[in-house]
Amino acid sequence: MKDIYILGIETSCDETAASVVRNGREIVSNVVASQIESHKRFGGVVPEVASRHHVEQITLVIEQALREAGITPGGLNAVAVTQGPGLVGALLVGVNAAKAFAFAHGLPVIGVHHIAGHVYANRLAGGMEFPLVALIISGGHTELVYMERDGSFELIGETRDDAAGEAYDKVARILGLPYPGGPHIDRLAHEAEESVKFPRAWLEDGSYDFSFSGLKSAVINYVHNANQKGETVDPAKVAAGFQESVVEVVTGKTVRAAKAFGVQQVIAAGGVAANRGLRDSLAEALGKEEIEFHVPPLNLCTDNAAMIAAAGSSMFEAGVRGDLRMNGKPGLEL
Ligand code: KG4
Ligand code: ZN
Repeated sequence: MKDIYILGIETSCDETAASVVRNGREIVSNVVASQIESHKRFGGVVPEVASRHHVEQITLVIEQALREAGITPGGLNAVAVTQGPGLVGALLVGVNAAKAFAFAHGLPVIGVHHIAGHVYANRLAGGMEFPLVALIISGGHTELVYMERDGSFELIGETRDDAAGEAYDKVARILGLPYPGGPHIDRLAHEAEESVKFPRAWLEDGSYDFSFSGLKSAVINYVHNANQKGETVDPAKVAAGFQESVVEVVTGKTVRAAKAFGVQQVIAAGGVAANRGLRDSLAEALGKEEIEFHVPPLNLCTDNAAMIAAAGSSMFEAGVRGDLRMNGKPGLEL
């Protein structure tokens, strides 16, 4: 069988990325231009700043991905691009670049759902065994997805307010830690000897949805009250308590979903999947149930274009072809 080469493009948030993937499984090149430095001083991603960076970077990043892969456009089978969800101005840059590239070189363009991309990152790092449950947990998403087979997605739970990473970043800001705050809270939580007890957002019985805004408010109130009373706040104690609440609820719901859907494998992806506390807790709880647990390496957990090419490759093999009328969709459904 002839090899299939897909060019992936990702610009849904604050990374401008392009990658070439062979047969949906092997990374041939993987280029990511991060904007973290530009967003740092604002403590979060500023949409307008993100779009401007994407415009500046996108052509260079695509050229670099092709150069590093040693492939010409003629050697590609299709262009896969993140169609949504994401920041509208950011998505449009990638989608228009993909359409222009596809038009210029006579290639089909395939629109990929960003979450599908995160899930297929796992195919680049050890494989996917169906049926499976995927936990997508990042600065923009917190979702539980059930996949009965290749290409089938069922959203079984999602956040009703903040994404987990967003809550990490906001709590970090309250504690005076740099952006992105997740890794700092993770480190402090491991150093802490004690923790502040914060509430758990289990929501209604049986729900696989998440909520992090109540927890975030509880942390804000705790810090404000302490400040008002003139007491010093121990950031490690707060970080540990916050992380315990997140980890307990996310692990509990993920394990319950895995058992209810009778899966053999759970995969995690997204920046927060890098969290040591969460990884350890999921590995232990799923291990007890004899369910396999996989997390791709960090560079494939966070936003990248190889995962978009991998998901696009599975769609290409299933016969999916988009056309040049395709547009970016900030609220695209899975
Ligand atoms: O996947 P990602 O790079 O971007 C998207 O949001 O799509 O995720 C970034 C998020 C940030 O909120 C960051 O604070 C969080 O992932 N993060 C972590 C850790 N490393 C990164 N959160 C908790 N613990 C970590 N070790
Ligand atoms: Zn993402």
